[in-house]
Amino acid sequence: MAVRTVLTFPDENLKRVSDPVEVFDDALRQAVADLEETMRAGPAAVGIAAPQIGWGRRVVIIDASAKPQWPSHGRLVLINPEIIAWEGSIIGREGCLSVPDYTGNVVRAERLTLEASDERGRPLRFEMEGFEARVLQHEIDHLNGLLFIDRVVSRRNDLFRRKVYR
Ligand code: NI
Repeated sequence: MAVRTVLTFPDENLKRVSDPVEVFDDALRQAVADLEETMRAGPAAVGIAAPQIGWGRRVVIIDASAKPQWPSHGRLVLINPEIIAWEGSIIGREGCLSVPDYTGNVVRAERLTLEASDERGRPLRFEMEGFEARVLQHEIDHLNGLLFIDRVVSRRNDLFRRKVYR
C-alpha cells in the first residue's frame, strides 16, 4: 500500500467526469487500499474520491463514524455509487483535502438512498442521513468533476479561509 499525492484545486484532473469500474480484480482492490491509506493520512478526513489521487474511476471511500451524534455505517468502500432517492435539504459546512485553505457552506439533501457495489462487485444499498449523507454527496460530486466551492451559493458569504487545518 502507498499514500498517494492528493491533487488540489485548480488541478484539471479534479474537473473530469470519472469512468465506471467494470473489472473487480486485485488491481482494483490494490488501488482501493492506496486510496484508503491516502484518506487516513489526511487531516481529519472523512471521505475521499478516486479522482483526488488522479485515478479517474467511480470509487469513493467514506467513514462518517467520527461524529457519533449522527447515524453512520462506518467505513464504506463504494464502487460506482448512485444516489437513487433524495429527501429534504440542509445547509452545512464542508472541507476537502483538495481545497485545503477553505471551508464552505453547502446545501445538500438531508436523507438519501444509495446503491453501489463493493470491491468484489456485490450490490450494496444504504439509507443515509445527516452527516454521512453529506459526506457521500460531497464524494460523488468529485466523480462528476465538482468541488464544494462549485456548490456554495455565494463565494463572498459562504466561503471561509481556514486558520489552521483541522
Ligand atoms: Ni473533497
